[in-house]
Amino acid sequence: MTTTNLAGRRALVTGGSRGIGAEIVRRLTADGAAVAFTYSASATYAEKLVAELSATGATVVAIQADAADAAQTAAAVDRAAAELGGLDVLVNNAGTATLAPIDEFTADQFDRMVAINIGGVFWATHSAIAHLGEGARIINIGSINADRVPGPGVSVYAMTKGAVSSFSRGLARELGPRGITVNNVQPGPINTDMNPDEGDFAESLKAIVPLGRYGRTSDISALVSFLAGPESGYITGANLNVDGGFTV
Ligand SMILES: NC(=O)c1ccc[n+]([C@@H]2O[C@H](COP(=O)([O-])OP(=O)(O)OC[C@H]3O[C@@H](n4cnc5c(N)ncnc54)[C@H](OP(=O)(O)O)[C@@H]3O)[C@@H](O)[C@H]2O)c1
Repeated sequence: MTTTNLAGRRALVTGGSRGIGAEIVRRLTADGAAVAFTYSASATYAEKLVAELSATGATVVAIQADAADAAQTAAAVDRAAAELGGLDVLVNNAGTATLAPIDEFTADQFDRMVAINIGGVFWATHSAIAHLGEGARIINIGSINADRVPGPGVSVYAMTKGAVSSFSRGLARELGPRGITVNNVQPGPINTDMNPDEGDFAESLKAIVPLGRYGRTSDISALVSFLAGPESGYITGANLNVDGGFTV
């Protein structure tokens, strides 16, 4: 289902070339927004997505920017605002998951995941603030692992997503007086390259999800579209789980 709720809205989605981010780009454009998205490595996917959505008449712009790099991220935000004529919605989606026991984690693995999952959210937000006005939205894509970690090897990833959750709450407090809402969407297992529903952990995850299955990327994009739109204006500082009941 799509709406025209986002007509006139201008959005930047980080990490929009594949997976959840790509579906958010699809949904926001389908609902009428003009959308820019970043990617780092997947130029081919990014180009295909632009071609697919441009063919529908949507305004969509792909920007290569490594979320681990503060300067590239800041430049991407400014370019998105310039190309779209402003910015109303920032979706901090880019993320990576390196899973390993704590004593096998290398410094490079740790630094890279923290730089993308925490630094990327901070620097995109830091740069976007200057463009966002009354009624704007910041929507972070955290993870249900901030609240529940069902097995070993996930501690560092969970730490980064816990930081996204805390940052979202603090920022909601800070930006409320400016009329900007900040929310944190926490997906459970969603079928993507990061977490395929035929992958190594899939059966054990399905076993603890009351609905007994993985979610779809469209389950996340539907909520993001609602949060980006006019009817969510009194929701801020919330952790919103889309997890099939993973945490019950
Ligand atoms: N799938 C799940 O079960 C699940 C559950 C909870 C939370 N999440 C969160 O949801 C978000 C999206 O996950 P996903 O499952 O869609 O992952 P995915 O399939 O691996 O896609 C990740 C997306 O982020 C981009 N990205 C990764 N590193 C980047 C970087 N350094 N700079 C810019 N873009 C970067 C990728 O683009 P490139 O390929 O171009 O780098 C890609 O578009 C992440 O924050 C993840 O932690 C996912």
